[in-house]
Amino acid sequence: MGWLTRRKAKKKDLVKTEEEIRKLREAARIVSGVLGELARHIQPGVSAQHLDLLAERWIRARGAEPAFKGYRGYPATICLSIDEEVVHGIPHPDKVLQEGQIVTIDVGVRWQGYYGDCAFTFPVGQVSPEKQRLLQVGLQALYEGMRQARNGKYTGDIGQAIERFVRQRGFDVVRDMVGHGIGSALHEPPDVPNYGRAGTGVRLRTRMVLAIEPMVVAGTHEVYTGADQWTVYTKDGAPAVHFEHMVVVRQFQAECLTTYDPVFQNFPGDLSFLRLGDVKPATKP
Ligand code: MF3
Ligand code: CO
Repeated sequence: MGWLTRRKAKKKDLVKTEEEIRKLREAARIVSGVLGELARHIQPGVSAQHLDLLAERWIRARGAEPAFKGYRGYPATICLSIDEEVVHGIPHPDKVLQEGQIVTIDVGVRWQGYYGDCAFTFPVGQVSPEKQRLLQVGLQALYEGMRQARNGKYTGDIGQAIERFVRQRGFDVVRDMVGHGIGSALHEPPDVPNYGRAGTGVRLRTRMVLAIEPMVVAGTHEVYTGADQWTVYTKDGAPAVHFEHMVVVRQFQAECLTTYDPVFQNFPGDLSFLRLGDVKPATKP
């Protein structure tokens, strides 16, 4: 995700052609496939480094390139963030998945000059009911945001929908990092915050392409960057989830370019607790 930038751009620059959207659709298909491939391997004992190598091989075999590697000096193909790590965790050989953790994998690809960007948070083995609920709220918050991505709405409508949905369920959203436009650059305007007020921000127009990516935390929303200069952690150590899809703004509803179908098809464990439908409001103490 982008750091909050407040870049200005001419409205017209944010709108893609159908030709560009075709390229983005293919980049999005490839990046969705990477997550599906990695999904097969999510289990206790597997190292982040192993997943990173699988991802890079899978991407290059399809004629694409890892988009994150080298981006501002980022050293790997995927970001792999465990529990209280929110985003931008760097894969290492000694970073090994353990039963009960939740692990976010965020991956980007470049294909024929266009970018794909997608993230999903997986349970490792059996996870606590609280983590299951966090995963479910995070995923549905993404869908709530995506529903706003239609012509005439505002980036603030997306942010408000996400923030409301999450806070009503007793969780919070990270504010320091935001979703973004995407095209022939990984991060383009507009910023797409996961909080805000309806009717504010940038007005959405048909054929804008957005990466919507709520980061949802079980505790407070404050985060900090670790000593490696990349990994972002929650200050209170509470777990975080991160789900990201790319969508095209259309007249009546968003067209989703990335898909979790490969993830749901290939994941060896049980994801049925992520099924759609409302998530019960938090029980008041
Ligand atoms: N995954 C981020 C995003 O969703 C970008 C990753 S930054 C990188 O926009 F340095 F890791 F590439
Ligand atoms: Co992104």
